[in-house]
Amino acid sequence: MRLGVADYLLKDDIQRLPHVIARTLEVHEARNAREQAIAELATSQRRLAELAEHLQTSIEHERAAIAREIHDDIGGALTAVRFDVAWIGRHSTDPAMQEHATSAVDMLQHAIGASQRIMMNLRPPILEQGLVAAVQWLATGFERRTGITTRMQSSSETIDIPTDIQLVAYRTAQEALTNISKHAQPSKVDIELSDKEGVLTLEVADNGRGMDSTVRDKPKAFGLKGLQERARTVGGWLDISSRPGKGTSVILSVPLPSPSKSAPGDAQ
Ligand SMILES: Nc1ncnc2c1ncn2[C@@H]1O[C@H](COP(=O)(O)OP(=O)(O)OP(=O)(O)O)[C@@H](O)[C@H]1O
Ligand SMILES: [Mg+2]
Repeated sequence: MRLGVADYLLKDDIQRLPHVIARTLEVHEARNAREQAIAELATSQRRLAELAEHLQTSIEHERAAIAREIHDDIGGALTAVRFDVAWIGRHSTDPAMQEHATSAVDMLQHAIGASQRIMMNLRPPILEQGLVAAVQWLATGFERRTGITTRMQSSSETIDIPTDIQLVAYRTAQEALTNISKHAQPSKVDIELSDKEGVLTLEVADNGRGMDSTVRDKPKAFGLKGLQERARTVGGWLDISSRPGKGTSVILSVPLPSPSKSAPGDAQ
Protein backbone atom coordinates (compact mmCIF):
# COMPACT_ATOMS: atom_id res chain seq x y z
CA MET A 1 0.00 0.00 0.00
CA ARG A 2 2.99 2.27 0.69
CA LEU A 3 4.00 1.76 -2.96
CA GLY A 4 0.57 2.88 -4.10
CA VAL A 5 -1.52 -0.29 -4.10
CA ALA A 6 -5.12 0.81 -3.81
CA ASP A 7 -7.09 -2.34 -4.50
CA TYR A 8 -6.74 -6.15 -4.31
CA LEU A 9 -8.42 -9.20 -5.76
CA LEU A 10 -8.85 -12.70 -4.30
CA LYS A 11 -7.80 -15.61 -6.58
CA ASP A 12 -11.29 -17.14 -6.58
CA ASP A 13 -12.71 -13.78 -7.70
CA ILE A 14 -10.39 -13.45 -10.72
CA GLN A 15 -13.21 -12.79 -13.22
CA ARG A 16 -13.47 -9.31 -11.68
CA LEU A 17 -9.94 -8.45 -12.90
CA PRO A 18 -10.99 -6.48 -16.05
CA HIS A 19 -13.41 -4.44 -13.99
CA VAL A 20 -10.77 -3.68 -11.35
CA ILE A 21 -8.22 -2.65 -14.01
CA ALA A 22 -10.76 -0.40 -15.74
CA ARG A 23 -11.67 1.23 -12.44
CA THR A 24 -8.03 1.77 -11.50
CA LEU A 25 -7.38 3.42 -14.87
CA GLU A 26 -10.43 5.64 -14.43
CA VAL A 27 -9.32 6.74 -10.95
CA HIS A 28 -5.84 7.41 -12.25
CA GLU A 29 -7.12 9.46 -15.19
CA ALA A 30 -9.43 11.46 -12.96
CA ARG A 31 -6.53 12.22 -10.59
CA ASN A 32 -4.33 13.32 -13.52
CA ALA A 33 -7.09 15.53 -14.91
CA ARG A 34 -7.61 17.15 -11.50
CA GLU A 35 -3.90 17.84 -11.04
CA GLN A 36 -3.72 19.35 -14.51
CA ALA A 37 -6.75 21.55 -13.85
CA ILE A 38 -5.20 22.79 -10.58
CA ALA A 39 -1.92 23.58 -12.37
CA GLU A 40 -3.77 25.41 -15.18
CA LEU A 41 -5.78 27.43 -12.66
CA ALA A 42 -2.60 28.46 -10.82
CA THR A 43 -0.98 29.53 -14.11
CA SER A 44 -4.02 31.52 -15.13
CA GLN A 45 -4.20 33.24 -11.71
CA ARG A 46 -0.50 34.13 -11.95
CA ARG A 47 -1.02 35.56 -15.45
CA LEU A 48 -3.99 37.59 -14.26
CA ALA A 49 -1.95 39.01 -11.37
CA GLU A 50 0.90 39.86 -13.78
CA LEU A 51 -1.54 41.52 -16.16
CA ALA A 52 -3.09 43.55 -13.34
CA GLU A 53 0.37 44.69 -12.23
CA HIS A 54 1.32 45.59 -15.81
CA LEU A 55 -1.88 47.59 -16.28
CA GLN A 56 -1.35 49.51 -13.05
CA THR A 57 2.22 50.35 -14.02
CA SER A 58 1.16 51.46 -17.52
CA ILE A 59 -1.57 53.65 -16.06
CA GLU A 60 0.92 55.33 -13.71
CA HIS A 61 3.37 55.92 -16.59
CA GLU A 62 0.64 57.28 -18.81
CA ARG A 63 -0.56 59.62 -16.05
CA ALA A 64 2.98 60.87 -15.42
CA ALA A 65 3.41 61.52 -19.17
CA ILE A 66 0.12 63.47 -19.40
CA ALA A 67 1.07 65.48 -16.28
CA ARG A 68 4.43 66.32 -17.88
CA GLU A 69 2.75 67.51 -21.06
CA ILE A 70 0.25 69.66 -19.17
CA HIS A 71 3.14 71.15 -17.21
CA ASP A 72 5.44 71.81 -20.15
CA ASP A 73 2.95 72.84 -22.84
CA ILE A 74 -0.21 74.16 -21.22
CA GLY A 75 1.19 75.41 -17.89
CA GLY A 76 4.16 77.14 -19.56
CA ALA A 77 2.03 78.80 -22.24
CA LEU A 78 -0.61 80.01 -19.77
CA THR A 79 2.01 81.57 -17.52
CA ALA A 80 3.63 83.36 -20.47
CA VAL A 81 0.28 84.69 -21.72
CA ARG A 82 -0.62 85.89 -18.22
CA PHE A 83 2.62 87.94 -18.05
CA ASP A 84 1.98 89.45 -21.47
CA VAL A 85 -1.63 90.36 -20.73
CA ALA A 86 -0.56 91.89 -17.41
CA TRP A 87 2.10 93.89 -19.27
CA ILE A 88 -0.49 95.15 -21.78
CA GLY A 89 -2.76 96.17 -18.91
CA ARG A 90 0.05 98.05 -17.15
CA HIS A 91 1.12 99.91 -20.28
CA SER A 92 -2.31 100.90 -21.45
CA THR A 93 -3.82 104.28 -20.59
CA ASP A 94 -7.29 103.20 -21.64
CA PRO A 95 -9.32 102.26 -18.52
CA ALA A 96 -11.54 99.84 -20.50
CA MET A 97 -8.44 98.07 -21.81
CA GLN A 98 -7.01 97.88 -18.27
CA GLU A 99 -10.24 96.41 -16.98
CA HIS A 100 -10.29 93.73 -19.68
CA ALA A 101 -6.62 92.94 -19.05
CA THR A 102 -7.27 92.51 -15.31
CA SER A 103 -10.18 90.15 -15.87
CA ALA A 104 -8.14 88.18 -18.46
CA VAL A 105 -5.30 87.85 -15.92
CA ASP A 106 -7.79 86.58 -13.31
CA MET A 107 -9.16 84.04 -15.76
CA LEU A 108 -5.65 82.89 -16.70
CA GLN A 109 -4.75 82.56 -13.02
CA HIS A 110 -7.82 80.36 -12.61
CA ALA A 111 -6.75 78.18 -15.58
CA ILE A 112 -3.19 77.88 -14.19
CA GLY A 113 -4.63 76.77 -10.84
CA ALA A 114 -6.85 74.22 -12.59
CA SER A 115 -3.97 72.77 -14.61
CA GLN A 116 -1.89 72.47 -11.41
CA ARG A 117 -4.75 70.67 -9.71
CA ILE A 118 -5.12 68.27 -12.64
CA MET A 119 -1.36 67.61 -12.55
CA MET A 120 -1.44 66.91 -8.82
CA ASN A 121 -4.22 64.38 -9.37
CA LEU A 122 -2.43 62.74 -12.27
CA ARG A 123 0.98 62.55 -10.66
CA PRO A 124 0.75 62.51 -6.88
CA PRO A 125 3.13 64.89 -5.18
CA ILE A 126 4.37 62.11 -2.89
CA LEU A 127 7.67 61.61 -4.63
CA GLU A 128 8.72 65.12 -3.67
CA GLN A 129 7.04 65.50 -0.29
CA GLY A 130 6.61 62.03 1.19
CA LEU A 131 3.57 59.88 1.93
CA VAL A 132 2.44 61.65 5.12
CA ALA A 133 2.33 65.06 3.41
CA ALA A 134 0.61 63.60 0.35
CA VAL A 135 -2.14 61.84 2.34
CA GLN A 136 -2.57 64.99 4.44
CA TRP A 137 -3.00 66.95 1.20
CA LEU A 138 -5.68 64.47 0.07
CA ALA A 139 -7.45 64.72 3.44
CA THR A 140 -7.44 68.53 3.44
CA GLY A 141 -8.78 68.70 -0.12
CA PHE A 142 -11.46 66.12 0.72
CA GLU A 143 -12.60 68.07 3.79
CA ARG A 144 -12.69 71.33 1.85
CA ARG A 145 -14.69 69.85 -1.03
CA THR A 146 -17.17 67.78 0.97
CA GLY A 147 -17.44 69.60 4.31
CA ILE A 148 -16.98 66.24 6.10
CA THR A 149 -14.74 66.51 9.19
CA THR A 150 -11.56 64.63 8.26
CA ARG A 151 -8.86 63.80 10.79
CA MET A 152 -5.48 62.40 9.89
CA GLN A 153 -2.98 60.83 12.26
CA SER A 154 0.43 59.45 11.53
CA SER A 155 2.85 57.42 13.69
CA SER A 156 5.65 59.79 12.67
CA GLU A 157 6.09 63.02 10.73
CA THR A 158 7.76 61.30 7.80
CA ILE A 159 7.47 57.69 6.70
CA ASP A 160 10.41 56.65 4.59
CA ILE A 161 9.37 53.74 2.38
CA PRO A 162 9.98 52.61 -1.23
CA THR A 163 8.25 54.63 -3.95
CA ASP A 164 6.09 51.78 -5.26
CA ILE A 165 4.60 51.18 -1.79
CA GLN A 166 4.03 54.94 -1.35
CA LEU A 167 2.12 55.00 -4.60
CA VAL A 168 -0.06 52.02 -3.62
CA ALA A 169 -0.85 53.64 -0.24
CA TYR A 170 -1.60 56.98 -1.88
CA ARG A 171 -3.95 55.46 -4.48
CA THR A 172 -5.68 53.44 -1.70
CA ALA A 173 -6.36 56.60 0.32
CA GLN A 174 -7.54 58.36 -2.84
CA GLU A 175 -10.03 55.61 -3.85
CA ALA A 176 -11.25 55.15 -0.24
CA LEU A 177 -11.99 58.88 -0.01
CA THR A 178 -13.66 58.91 -3.44
CA ASN A 179 -15.85 55.99 -2.33
CA ILE A 180 -16.76 57.83 0.87
CA SER A 181 -17.87 60.91 -1.06
CA LYS A 182 -19.83 58.74 -3.53
CA HIS A 183 -21.44 56.17 -1.24
CA ALA A 184 -21.02 56.73 2.51
CA GLN A 185 -22.66 60.04 3.59
CA PRO A 186 -20.74 60.10 6.90
CA SER A 187 -20.28 62.94 9.37
CA LYS A 188 -16.58 62.19 9.90
CA VAL A 189 -13.60 60.39 8.41
CA ASP A 190 -10.49 59.17 10.25
CA ILE A 191 -7.26 58.41 8.44
CA GLU A 192 -4.38 56.67 10.20
CA LEU A 193 -0.94 55.96 8.84
CA SER A 194 1.69 53.92 10.63
CA ASP A 195 4.97 52.19 9.85
CA LYS A 196 5.28 50.51 13.26
CA GLU A 197 6.65 46.96 13.61
CA GLY A 198 7.91 46.87 10.03
CA VAL A 199 4.45 47.05 8.48
CA LEU A 200 2.93 50.02 6.72
CA THR A 201 -0.73 50.36 7.63
CA LEU A 202 -3.14 52.85 6.23
CA GLU A 203 -6.68 52.93 7.59
CA VAL A 204 -9.44 55.08 6.16
CA ALA A 205 -12.56 54.81 8.31
CA ASP A 206 -15.91 56.55 7.97
CA ASN A 207 -19.04 56.50 10.12
CA GLY A 208 -21.41 56.46 7.16
CA ARG A 209 -24.03 54.05 5.87
CA GLY A 210 -21.72 51.03 5.50
CA MET A 211 -22.47 48.06 3.26
CA ASP A 212 -22.95 44.31 3.44
CA SER A 213 -20.34 41.91 2.10
CA THR A 214 -22.18 41.19 -1.18
CA VAL A 215 -22.17 44.82 -2.27
CA ARG A 216 -18.42 45.18 -2.66
CA ASP A 217 -18.33 42.33 -5.20
CA LYS A 218 -20.88 43.88 -7.55
CA PRO A 219 -19.88 43.26 -11.17
CA LYS A 220 -19.28 46.76 -12.52
CA ALA A 221 -17.38 48.09 -9.51
CA PHE A 222 -13.62 48.03 -9.88
CA GLY A 223 -12.33 50.41 -7.21
CA LEU A 224 -12.00 47.99 -4.29
CA LYS A 225 -11.01 45.04 -6.50
CA GLY A 226 -8.31 47.19 -8.10
CA LEU A 227 -6.99 48.16 -4.66
CA GLN A 228 -6.81 44.50 -3.64
CA GLU A 229 -4.73 43.71 -6.73
CA ARG A 230 -2.55 46.77 -6.19
CA ALA A 231 -1.85 45.75 -2.58
CA ARG A 232 -0.80 42.30 -3.80
CA THR A 233 1.71 43.77 -6.27
CA VAL A 234 3.76 45.07 -3.32
CA GLY A 235 3.26 42.00 -1.12
CA GLY A 236 0.44 43.51 0.94
CA TRP A 237 -3.28 43.00 1.43
CA LEU A 238 -6.48 44.95 1.90
CA ASP A 239 -9.07 44.40 4.63
CA ILE A 240 -12.50 45.92 4.36
CA SER A 241 -14.72 45.84 7.39
CA SER A 242 -18.19 47.27 7.15
CA ARG A 243 -21.71 46.75 8.37
CA PRO A 244 -24.88 48.44 7.14
CA GLY A 245 -25.39 51.58 9.21
CA LYS A 246 -22.09 51.14 11.06
CA GLY A 247 -19.60 52.75 8.71
CA THR A 248 -16.75 51.32 6.69
CA SER A 249 -13.09 50.86 7.33
CA VAL A 250 -10.56 50.13 4.59
CA ILE A 251 -7.19 48.94 5.85
CA LEU A 252 -4.10 48.47 3.71
CA SER A 253 -1.19 46.50 5.24
CA VAL A 254 2.18 46.11 3.57
CA PRO A 255 5.16 44.44 5.26
CA LEU A 256 8.12 46.76 4.70
CA PRO A 257 11.50 45.60 3.47
CA SER A 258 13.77 45.47 6.54
CA PRO A 259 16.32 48.30 6.64
CA SER A 260 19.79 47.10 5.55
CA LYS A 261 20.65 44.46 8.12
CA SER A 262 24.10 45.19 9.48
CA ALA A 263 24.79 43.64 12.84
CA PRO A 264 27.64 45.20 14.85
CA GLY A 265 29.95 42.31 14.02
CA ASP A 266 29.38 42.82 10.28
CA ALA A 267 31.60 45.90 10.15
CA GLN A 268 34.62 43.83 9.21
N1 LIG B 1 -17.18 53.89 2.24
C1 LIG B 1 -18.24 53.24 1.72
N2 LIG B 1 -19.46 53.31 2.32
C2 LIG B 1 -20.53 52.66 1.82
N3 LIG B 1 -20.49 51.86 0.73
C3 LIG B 1 -19.33 51.74 0.09
C4 LIG B 1 -18.14 52.41 0.54
N4 LIG B 1 -17.11 52.05 -0.29
C5 LIG B 1 -17.64 51.24 -1.21
N5 LIG B 1 -18.96 51.05 -0.99
C6 LIG B 1 -19.87 50.14 -1.75
O1 LIG B 1 -19.06 49.14 -2.36
C7 LIG B 1 -19.25 49.15 -3.76
C8 LIG B 1 -17.96 48.80 -4.45
O2 LIG B 1 -17.02 49.87 -4.36
P1 LIG B 1 -16.00 50.10 -5.54
O3 LIG B 1 -15.08 51.21 -5.17
O4 LIG B 1 -15.38 48.78 -5.86
O5 LIG B 1 -16.92 50.51 -6.77
P2 LIG B 1 -17.64 51.90 -7.14
O6 LIG B 1 -17.12 53.00 -6.25
O7 LIG B 1 -19.11 51.67 -7.16
O8 LIG B 1 -17.16 52.12 -8.64
P3 LIG B 1 -15.68 52.44 -9.16
O9 LIG B 1 -15.34 51.27 -10.05
O10 LIG B 1 -15.82 53.74 -9.88
O11 LIG B 1 -14.78 52.54 -7.97
C9 LIG B 1 -19.79 50.54 -4.08
O12 LIG B 1 -20.57 50.55 -5.25
C10 LIG B 1 -20.60 50.88 -2.85
O13 LIG B 1 -21.89 50.33 -2.93
MG1 LIG C 1 -15.00 53.24 -6.03
